[in-house]
Amino acid sequence: MSTENFNPEQLAKEYDAQSPAAIIKLAVENFDNIAISFSGAEDVVLVDIATKINPDVNVFSLDTGRLHAETYRFIEQVREHYGIEIDVLSPDTDTVQELVRKKGLYSFYKDGHKECCSIRKVIPLRRHLAGLDAWITGQRKDQSPDTRNAVPVVERDAAFSNADKNFYKFNPLANWTSAQVWEYIRSNEVPFNALHEQGFSSIGCEPCTRPVLPNQHEREGRWWWEESTQKECGLHVADKK
Ligand code: ADX
Ligand code: SF4
Repeated sequence: MSTENFNPEQLAKEYDAQSPAAIIKLAVENFDNIAISFSGAEDVVLVDIATKINPDVNVFSLDTGRLHAETYRFIEQVREHYGIEIDVLSPDTDTVQELVRKKGLYSFYKDGHKECCSIRKVIPLRRHLAGLDAWITGQRKDQSPDTRNAVPVVERDAAFSNADKNFYKFNPLANWTSAQVWEYIRSNEVPFNALHEQGFSSIGCEPCTRPVLPNQHEREGRWWWEESTQKECGLHVADKK
């Protein structure tokens, strides 16, 4: 498929008020070589919508080695429920072992989460995206007023593009609220991560995620020892370009 004339800025405007299904359709019609990045949380709605459009859609999850047991079980449940293959991506063993040998298993509490996230998430992601032309994520504006308030529904992904190749990113849920996502999950009987029943709103790695109290913003349950402007692990930093 030729994407020479693919114009993300124009399409972002055109599709801004469209449904996630229309945006996913746009994504899979323009790119054969595309995959959903599934975190094992409420972004399962992407899998539900996309498999109705293409039952063989590519899906991958970044297995940091530090996910909750519930999340591993949920990824497996989704694999079986939708009858799909999921690429569960591991980080490089030597690099993880080096980090843990030098700094221990909880270095992120002392010197920030960037180093561990880079090794366990961003480098494996970069390796996987190198074989693709575009990806689909579950980012939403309402997930973080400090870092995600301008997420477009489609964009050129500056973090993973290079001089030889433009790389694209679709965020079909950008304009949906958490309430809309949950309305979709309930009305379509979509399976969900059991942690959501235990007060977890936003779900990442086990040591870096905690439940939130009533009326606390969901992002406050992630890397709670850090400033709200720092609560990005590097998967989506280029959105601030
Ligand atoms: S994060 O950058 O802070 O960890 P967040 O948990 O908000 O991201 O999820 C936003 C989107 O990033 C998810 O919907 C998903 O597309 C992608 N993502 C986050 N974590 C993972 C993961 N472990 N595996 C695959 N995709 C992920
Ligand atoms: Fe490491 Fe925490 Fe980042 Fe997971 S979220 S990769 S455990 S710093």
